[in-house]
Amino acid sequence: MSFRQKFKAVIPVAGWGTRFLPATKTMPKEMLPIIDKPTIHYIVEELLSAGIEDLIFITGRHKRAVEDYFDRNIDLEEHLKSNGKKELLNLIQKISYMVNPIFIRQKEQKGLGHAILTAKPVIGKDEPFIVSLGDVIIHGENVVKKLIEIHKRVKTSVIALYEVPKEEVNKYGIAKVRPISEDLFIIEDIIEKPTPEEAPSNYAVVGRYLLTPAIFTHLQNTQPGKGNEIQLTDAIRNLLKEEQIYAYIVKGKVFDTGNKLDYLKTILFFAFNREDLREGLKDFLKELFKEWATEMK
Ligand code: UTP
Repeated sequence: MSFRQKFKAVIPVAGWGTRFLPATKTMPKEMLPIIDKPTIHYIVEELLSAGIEDLIFITGRHKRAVEDYFDRNIDLEEHLKSNGKKELLNLIQKISYMVNPIFIRQKEQKGLGHAILTAKPVIGKDEPFIVSLGDVIIHGENVVKKLIEIHKRVKTSVIALYEVPKEEVNKYGIAKVRPISEDLFIIEDIIEKPTPEEAPSNYAVVGRYLLTPAIFTHLQNTQPGKGNEIQLTDAIRNLLKEEQIYAYIVKGKVFDTGNKLDYLKTILFFAFNREDLREGLKDFLKELFKEWATEMK
């Protein structure tokens, strides 16, 4: 008898989003729109197309909007129905049926590592699982699918990495890696937000992980680190002492929508890829560049 291994995904969305204040005072950063869909919608689409059905959102007190987004909105449905807006009605209904979510409250925002730890009760003790950050969109390839394919070969944790400019290593977890084939690396060490001098490479963790449940013991034993937060990277560093961890180097384009400049770039990139917006955007940018021409020289 053969079983198709099914994976659950943990999606942490409980952070404060301080880099986006004041917008995030009431609006979760994962709900900020990339044109007409919130960021979290893109993350969920990637998971669904990788065959993942069980989505565990780690939310906080101020994140009701994420829960409501994946729920039905009967008033809105009635309104669209009575106004004959069938296409919009279908769109709205589809979103509420697209996932069967589990919501877990992280009662205090003690960091990403702590957020993942709150999922322990719903992950089996022999059950590897996916972690997808709620504010990182990857375009051009389904990285979750890649992690699952690699896990099937290596049977252990696999983490997505992305090359970042040397001067930006202090914003990320950075891994020391050893290549073992064209698309597969072994992680030898990992360090959270190193200085460029400390950094063992410029391969940064990018917000997609496939982890074995052994990570939970390490998360339980991890003390607050950089930023006084319980860091997932620190727990992964300890996990390295007991299991081999592999890395997949992302080929697609990574957008960290949690910072303002990347958020703007994401909107421009996705708008440029949309037929209904491309021409209008091009015209606007041409005009703008004319005005800015002297400044851009
Ligand atoms: P970030 O560090 O990007 O989120 O965490 P943040 O803390 O909200 O950001 P800033 O620095 O204040 O602007 C990555 C992901 O982990 C979640 C966030 O919601 C984000 O999706 N997170 C972070 C939690 O769920 N809980 C936490 O305690 C911290």
